[in-house]
Amino acid sequence: MSQVSDVNVTGTPKKVHVETWGCQMNAADSERMLALLAQQNYQLTPIVEEADLVLLNTCHIREKARHKVLSRLGVLRDLKEQRPGMTIAVAGCVAQAEGRRLLKAAPQIDVLLGPGKIEDLPRLLSEHADTGKSALATGFARHHDDHAAEPTDVDAEAVAPPTLSGKHEVSRYVNIQQGCNNYCTFCVVPFTRGREVSRTIAEVVAESKALLATGARELTLLGQNVNSYGSDNGEPPRFAELLRAVAALPELDRLRFTTSNPHDLTREVADLFATEPKLGRYLHLPVQSGSDPILHRMQRKVTVAEYLERVTWLRSAVPDIAISTDLIVGFPGETEEDFAATMALVEKVGFSFTFSFKYSPRNNTPAARYLDQIPESVKDERLTRLHTLQDSITTKQNLAEINEVRPVLFLYHSQKMPGYYYGRTEHYRLVRVAAERNLVGEILPVKITSANKTALLGDLV
Ligand code: SAH
Ligand code: F3S
Repeated sequence: MSQVSDVNVTGTPKKVHVETWGCQMNAADSERMLALLAQQNYQLTPIVEEADLVLLNTCHIREKARHKVLSRLGVLRDLKEQRPGMTIAVAGCVAQAEGRRLLKAAPQIDVLLGPGKIEDLPRLLSEHADTGKSALATGFARHHDDHAAEPTDVDAEAVAPPTLSGKHEVSRYVNIQQGCNNYCTFCVVPFTRGREVSRTIAEVVAESKALLATGARELTLLGQNVNSYGSDNGEPPRFAELLRAVAALPELDRLRFTTSNPHDLTREVADLFATEPKLGRYLHLPVQSGSDPILHRMQRKVTVAEYLERVTWLRSAVPDIAISTDLIVGFPGETEEDFAATMALVEKVGFSFTFSFKYSPRNNTPAARYLDQIPESVKDERLTRLHTLQDSITTKQNLAEINEVRPVLFLYHSQKMPGYYYGRTEHYRLVRVAAERNLVGEILPVKITSANKTALLGDLV
């Protein structure tokens, strides 16, 4: 762990307001930064106007995500004029990708740090406090020296900090790997998060144990390409071994992982779904397109037939496994025929849900330089057709759950409707149940009584 500076360690707590965009990686990074700030006597506030420190953890994956950050920075500039003592910190992939350029465009930023420099946050804050100038750190960590020492039970709190809400939640993330080596032609991740670096099995198991000790019952192992876990130095991947090691922890009830690139998904991992009940009956397996020429231009390294083969592996392990996916519409050169192939694949696989995006050209990526870019109006129209199709499939699958009894892990209570609890089935379907006592943290059988496209409703049995 990097040296913690001595700013404001005692005395009145300072207030930090955190806003997180983008993927689960960012959510996990925000938790880590908050844990570091807690050691500096910061407390979380949901109210931006009362914050001493506003931390934006940003996403660069699509242009829209980047725009949102810039417009938020405009609002914060006005706020800072009224509260000159306020510190603005920008973390995440926009900070990494734009670095000093972002500081020039938005001089109200006091601290800027990339996802590889999370542990530098306390140092950067004190540097800014000392000099009054913007402090910056970007680039990638070579190894995880912050986790070099094996944690003992005594440091369990430090390794497994409370979540942003200050509560110990039932479902927690564990980072197993940084970066990505794949260079899909549309994607900025290898530029913003660097090359793949895996943590050791011992580190992941130790952090998992610490999270379970704070009351977690479900863990999600996080990486951009989890199936290649352990192969950073050209060694064979060890993801199946890691899954077995974490699944063996007796306090753990459910183990999930994301993101699983179909290219690197092995038969061994697919087969584990049959023998390891903690893995549940669900996998997110991004395909991006249903057309081979487009997959080739995306450099996804799998064909549609190879993707379908992976689906068959998974379904032979668990016949009713739910599979979700990511899709990009309007990738450069995508013809109506290519798009029709994507629609056909969606129907053929019967995804439980999809995240679908309009292609967004990103700086430095090869696809941004392709000449046959697709007009926005065509992208919009394709996205709408895809949403309509997927909604009908999801609704149909959800309606088929009516009268089934499913074990549900309850994760949180409804903010809007007191007395209602939300949880997930093994198939990752969201379920809402009314109850007179707090169900959070329990796995209970629920009979499904009705359903719509977003959730199932049910009763405890
Ligand atoms: N590691 C994951 C993807 C991470 S990015 C994988 O292997 O698939 C999350 C999703 O954002 C991607 O799956 C893709 O669907 C979408 N995405 C990434 N870059 C994009 C871009 N330039 N335009 C539109 N969508 C994009
Ligand atoms: Fe991006 Fe492809 Fe890696 S989508 S995160 S380059 S697997």
